[in-house]
Amino acid sequence: MARVALHDLSKRFGDHTAVDSFSLQIADREFVVLVGPSGCGKTTTLRMIAGFESPDNGSIVIGERDVSRVATKDRNLAMVFQKYALYPHMNVFRNMAFGLKLRKTPKAEVRRRVEQTAEMLGISHLLTRKPADLSGGEQQRVALGRAVARDADVFLFDEPLSNLDAKLRVRMRSEIVKLHRKLQATMVYVTHDQVEAMMMGDRIVVMNEGRIQQVGTPLDVYNSPQNRFVAEFIGSPPMNVLDGQLTNDNDQPAVKIGDWTVPISKARAGRYTELVGKPIALGIRPEDIRLTPPGDGENWLAIESEIQVTQPLGAEWLIELEAHGQSFVARSPASSAPSTPTGSITSHWNLARCHLFDGRTGAAVMGAKEI
Ligand SMILES: Nc1ncnc2c1ncn2[C@@H]1O[C@H](COP(=O)(O)OP(=O)(O)OP(=O)(O)O)[C@@H](O)[C@H]1O
Ligand SMILES: [Mg+2]
Repeated sequence: MARVALHDLSKRFGDHTAVDSFSLQIADREFVVLVGPSGCGKTTTLRMIAGFESPDNGSIVIGERDVSRVATKDRNLAMVFQKYALYPHMNVFRNMAFGLKLRKTPKAEVRRRVEQTAEMLGISHLLTRKPADLSGGEQQRVALGRAVARDADVFLFDEPLSNLDAKLRVRMRSEIVKLHRKLQATMVYVTHDQVEAMMMGDRIVVMNEGRIQQVGTPLDVYNSPQNRFVAEFIGSPPMNVLDGQLTNDNDQPAVKIGDWTVPISKARAGRYTELVGKPIALGIRPEDIRLTPPGDGENWLAIESEIQVTQPLGAEWLIELEAHGQSFVARSPASSAPSTPTGSITSHWNLARCHLFDGRTGAAVMGAKEI
């Protein structure tokens, strides 16, 4: 197994910069997820690590070796891609053995590894079947098995679950997480699905337009987004972000959103005095808006709100509300959900959990922990 160091990687296609100054240190045995919207450069980054794409700039180190100019087959990687095309004329055993045979692994060793991997993935009973006789989920496991049967230094996954139905996806996510633990391998996993990223990664790397936006543990990124893009991308439903202006009338800092004024704590006023009078965006996660009166001790703001849409999801509900001409979503346990689908309700905002973003650059000026 091995660490991976990516230094200042860039890749252009014609005039378009697909990946821009991408630097990241991935520790030995770490599970890192690259996540971001379609076209943000995830696959291109992975393809550069794999050696399918040569960077215009930067270097790639795997283990202690600079592989920037080393051919794919000599980088000792195993890969699973979205289109995992199994060989249709070979049975599962031969599909899984293929990479090992290419590497001239002795026959008895091939058998041992394939059988052991099949056991781990729960597909031992499928070894003699052809891919056409397997369900989508079984084919997916075989594709995974084909990759992990090899003793690779680093595993690369590019949206390997995107062909599966929702239920199977959830199951396969935990299978891959368990596999990571068993193999003690370094893994780089690409997805555009932020829920998948949050569930799987030791660390996640949020990308947009070819650039890294933030790197951190899932909870770090969720609780302390460094900019508005990350705040709105990570979390389902996303953080509510309302555009306004920072004011400081009568020495009370506040965000003015239309005719509405949301006071903010004075405690850290020094951090944002230079932004007074400038555009600012106020962010609050749906779970930080309650529909029942909160207990004491925190900094709550009660807001008379109109119910727009209610979405009962079972244990919890999402409620779209409107106040002062602004729409926002609250997440509520079913037990305190509104009893009618329309009407007025008081929503309670946990001001201690609000975020502020610079209205022009989107950079966080104040995170939830700091307000
Ligand atoms: N071979 C290519 N030639 C020209 N442009 C390309 C090529 N490959 C990728 N691009 C462009 O580079 C950008 C990044 O593409 P990439 O495939 O890395 O995105 P992605 O994050 O993997 O997206 P998705 O989630 O849709 O798979 C896109 O704008 C894409 O159109
Ligand atoms: Mg892609």
